[in-house]
Amino acid sequence: MKSQIAQLRAYTPGLSPEALKKKLGITGELHKLASNENVYGPSPKAKEAIKTHVDDLFLYPEPNAPLLQAAIAEHYQVAPEQVVFGAGLDEMIVIISRTVIRSGDKVVTSEGTFGQYFHNAVVEDANIVQVPLNEGAFDLDAIADAVDDKTALVWICNPNNPTGTYHNAEAIEAFIQKIPSNVTILFDEAYAEYVTADDYPDTVALMQKYDNIAMLRTFSKAYGLAGLRIGYIIAPPPLAEKLNVIRPPFNTTRLSEQAALAAFQDQSYLQQTVAANKAERDKFNDVNTTLKLYPTQTNFVFVETDRVAELDEALLKAGIIARAFPNGVRITFGFPEQNEVIRQVLAQF
Ligand SMILES: Cc1ncc(COP(=O)(O)O)c(C=O)c1O
Repeated sequence: MKSQIAQLRAYTPGLSPEALKKKLGITGELHKLASNENVYGPSPKAKEAIKTHVDDLFLYPEPNAPLLQAAIAEHYQVAPEQVVFGAGLDEMIVIISRTVIRSGDKVVTSEGTFGQYFHNAVVEDANIVQVPLNEGAFDLDAIADAVDDKTALVWICNPNNPTGTYHNAEAIEAFIQKIPSNVTILFDEAYAEYVTADDYPDTVALMQKYDNIAMLRTFSKAYGLAGLRIGYIIAPPPLAEKLNVIRPPFNTTRLSEQAALAAFQDQSYLQQTVAANKAERDKFNDVNTTLKLYPTQTNFVFVETDRVAELDEALLKAGIIARAFPNGVRITFGFPEQNEVIRQVLAQF
């Protein structure tokens, strides 16, 4: 076995609402708001597409999800071959790491970000540098300083999970300019559809100018299809070609392709979801609390505290399952009435 795997642990999912109720003796309802899932769910058209295509289940999927690939390529005005799919971005991160990282290469990212960058870099025997966050945001200057001639990859999560903070177009382009062109910069934009700030980067437009960057998007978050496992990268052609060498040929499914296509084509439903999320998100600006809430452009908020266990418990007692981190608690936005309960807990804490 690879010796570096000894330091890693398998992902431990949080307990289900049923299991938690039993463990804590809670009798009321518990709402799981711990994984940044979209409580509004996918477009009804995505559900219809699943019903329409259910009789094709005995067939293998088309290897490149060609219908979805064409729709995404047209939307972003890129070549279809630049769009590569994974069984969620989780798998895309595996594929990228496996393709790009050689043993001993350096991988640079931030502390306090999505854990799979680190996990997969370790598996590939990289030397990984995690630069501390600055006020909950990626410290782009310090990250650029950490890049050297051994560096193969840089991961930027924008907006960041778990803090929800983002960097704007100007900051991102200034950062790209500091990174040598032989280093690949991956922009994980899993929450991009939720962003309403006008100055969020157009990463595909930046790809016209810089050929060492790529953008990752998923159908798991704003499109509400986390259960189907489909996400994609838009990459420069040479990288996309090699990602396809590593990608298992039948890694997505017929139903995930059809549902994602229907969801992608139903932009008005997406916009309703985004607007509903923003309306709820904005209400968190006015919470009367001494706790520190990071500014967020996503469907979750990070509450910084050194009393993590207490806050987690207070939320649980109010029926909310959140996700605890060493320096705070991340809460996914739920329906308006659930969010009201969350704000009351924060105000009283
Ligand atoms: C920043 C980020 N990247 C990637 C993922 C993986 O998403 P999925 O595999 O569902 O596409 C997540 C999921 O929480 C995430 O928060």
